[in-house]
Amino acid sequence: MLFERPEAGRKTVLLQIELRRQTNPDEGEFVELARSAELDVVQVERAKRDTPHPRWFVGSGKVEELKDVLRWADASLVLINHDLSPGQQRNLEQALDCRMITRTELILTIFAERARSHEGQLQVELAQLKHAQTRLVRGWTHLDRQKGGIGMRGAGEKQIELDQRMLAERVKATEQKLQNVSRRRAQNRRGRHRTGTPTVSLVGYTNAGKSTLFNAITQAEVYAEDLLFATLDPTTRKIDVPGAGNVVMTDTVGFVSVLPHALVEAFKATLEEVVHADLLLHVVDVADPLREERIEQVQAVLAEIGAAEVPQLVALNKADLLDPRQAHECGNASLVSALTGQGLGELLDRIGAALGVVAPHQVLLQPHDGKNRAWLYQSGAVLEETMLTDGSVQLTVQADEQLLGQMRQRRVHVASAKI
Ligand code: GTP
Repeated sequence: MLFERPEAGRKTVLLQIELRRQTNPDEGEFVELARSAELDVVQVERAKRDTPHPRWFVGSGKVEELKDVLRWADASLVLINHDLSPGQQRNLEQALDCRMITRTELILTIFAERARSHEGQLQVELAQLKHAQTRLVRGWTHLDRQKGGIGMRGAGEKQIELDQRMLAERVKATEQKLQNVSRRRAQNRRGRHRTGTPTVSLVGYTNAGKSTLFNAITQAEVYAEDLLFATLDPTTRKIDVPGAGNVVMTDTVGFVSVLPHALVEAFKATLEEVVHADLLLHVVDVADPLREERIEQVQAVLAEIGAAEVPQLVALNKADLLDPRQAHECGNASLVSALTGQGLGELLDRIGAALGVVAPHQVLLQPHDGKNRAWLYQSGAVLEETMLTDGSVQLTVQADEQLLGQMRQRRVHVASAKI
């Protein structure tokens, strides 16, 4: 890992700055992020500003206040809910005589610990390397030893140049490795598309219960934990869905509000699964008092990665935590509990119905029925063709209701909803 991770249980002060006329990261989420990094939050300090102060981001008065807070709280770490310029970070560290960690660094630290697959680890590494490029002095503690010292002038600068070159090389190598993984993933996806197996991707705000629901549906053992970002790698399983046959289901990384752009970039490959899915299952924590905001934040991330157009089914999870009197407020959405299994059958039926339109069917054409064969090819629905020994043709077609109706009119024999 490139960053020195703050040790668990470290006494920490959070600095929640509200900048006017812009979207500020949510305070509750910030506390949760710190908790996920296993830090001991002893105090939240708040301030409002029009614009960041060029020297310390906060004003000089706040810096003085923070010194006091750190002293009485006996804390040695400050987390800030925004990103700092390298200069601001250094100035604050000097003024407060303690370590500062920015929001992006905090998220990267959590990502680094949670990444389990090769791809997830590569993505975190790339994001960390890119971050390190923007502030070479941080996390490269050996530099401090190289820099400074009378008569040693220039050694540090030279070292920085060398490190910059080394970083650039590592970025290139990591990008190359990720491209290979991404290519393999695209091949798998094309393979699935060829066989007509539809894909459902679970998306949702972090901690909504995606992994637990994924486990409940697929009976697979995927790491589920009450910490943010427990999932960093999409985990893929095949399941049987009534009405749609075989379906590939993928679990994905949890979303947060105001995800630092560098991280969205780094996780694009993972999120490609989402963009190419036939259906998104948007998992919502029904017991979260901020659930409406969370839904909007997820929609915003989906729009950012280009997945706004993918059909979506909402699953309101954690129904077991809901007062039964509130259940009627959920209207038509699927109310489920991944823990107790409540509503899972109905949810699968809904997935099946939503995918029904893309479920592949098998069609058998007589040897002389070239007309219907040509018509089906023209409709663009044919996925696969097999010539049988008697000269008849078996086609796998992806047909929606309308095409199925037309096939019935043309007396095309649909053998089955397949696979
Ligand atoms: P990220 O990986 O951070 O995106 O989280 P996730 O959405 O995959 O959530 P995860 O499945 O890890 O669940 C988060 C927490 O919610 C865990 O403590 C689960 O046990 C809990 N949880 C999940 N589903 C339910 C449910 O139906 N009822 C209750 N009461 N708790 C649930």
